[in-house]
Amino acid sequence: MPEKLIDAGEASALHPGKMQRFDFGGRRILLANVAGRICAVDDTCTHEDASLSSGVLEDVWVRCPLHGSRFNVCTGQALEEPAEENLRSYPVRIEGGRILIALPEGETP
Ligand code: FES
Repeated sequence: MPEKLIDAGEASALHPGKMQRFDFGGRRILLANVAGRICAVDDTCTHEDASLSSGVLEDVWVRCPLHGSRFNVCTGQALEEPAEENLRSYPVRIEGGRILIALPEGETP
């Protein structure tokens, strides 16, 4: 399926070890800078409705602020309960200093 690239902001504004939430078309996406690599996953925990951008980023793992499950911010892998489902992850490209998130065309408004 063809992809659409969504501009999620200036790459240099997201420093290593930091994360931020990006809202787009009703979707909440978590952007994280892991040692210079910018990754994107869904921001909403798969356990309950918690925003992972309010959690804590340690290396590649974000800890949910509500019950403490950890997720890999680059692959979406859920590491421990109570969350059992992985997060969706999104391909990211950096072009011209901008963070571009690839979404299937049918999913963009
Ligand atoms: S809401 Fe995230 S672990 Fe429960």
